[in-house]
Amino acid sequence: MNEMTYDRATQDVGNILGMEHVNVTVPDPALALTFYVSGLGLTRDPYMMVGPENMWINVGQQQFHLPTREPQVFTGSIGVVIPDVEALQLRLKRVEERLAGTAFSWSAENGHVAVTCPWGNRFRCYAPGPQFGEMTLGIPYVEISVKPGTAEGISQFYLKVMQAPASFTQENKEAVTRVRVGGGQELRFRETTENLPAYDGHHIAVYIANFSAPHAFLKHRNLITQESDAHQYRFQTIINPWTGKPLCELEHEVRSLYHPMYGREMVNRNPLQRITAYARGRDAFVQ
Ligand SMILES: [Fe+2]
Repeated sequence: MNEMTYDRATQDVGNILGMEHVNVTVPDPALALTFYVSGLGLTRDPYMMVGPENMWINVGQQQFHLPTREPQVFTGSIGVVIPDVEALQLRLKRVEERLAGTAFSWSAENGHVAVTCPWGNRFRCYAPGPQFGEMTLGIPYVEISVKPGTAEGISQFYLKVMQAPASFTQENKEAVTRVRVGGGQELRFRETTENLPAYDGHHIAVYIANFSAPHAFLKHRNLITQESDAHQYRFQTIINPWTGKPLCELEHEVRSLYHPMYGREMVNRNPLQRITAYARGRDAFVQ
């Protein structure tokens, strides 16, 4: 019998099973709606946070959470997979006038469309492709800019504390740590020599399988910032697990699989539907 050999490690999934949302506060929900829904073509969650004090935006199986407050800005960039990047560019063109005078900008780059939100968050929008697996609409990664000399320790934090596969490499002379999240997402920490602003409280939410072991480590070192409820806690400081040295700040909302929102079905629309080009029966996004 002809026995194939496979690299079985490529199929390993670590302890972080998914990143569900990225939270950045925004000062003006109407401008946020113009950017995220009219511009990016995403969908406002029709069931939760439907008032002016907060807005949840569905991106496939992920979300942006946008509470109304002073703006928060990620230091790096946020990856977004969008099914039709040609149509995306037409939508971005259409919202240019309404977003004039803000930090909004966009440009077609090699392999992605670079988009900056009205308050300075940077997105890289990609067409679906093999590097994103089956994802045709979603948030495949967030990339955080970190100080020189911290990325290797950050990889150790995710390996040892969060029990997630993490690799530390040099890419174009920049040190980068990549943390595997589920089967198709990634957290990236890229070192930069640029000045970084003080951490402003933006956060990500992740679901993890072994909920208690990271908690025990973090609690022992006084790093739990919120005991939210039975299914959720938060921490913010990423440390070198061997030396205890703080390396960067990024609030993690950590959830167990018993959290009521785990695997929640998100409503996504087909942004190609317009009055002038309406197709009956095609309102919903179909993967
Ligand atoms: Fe959150």
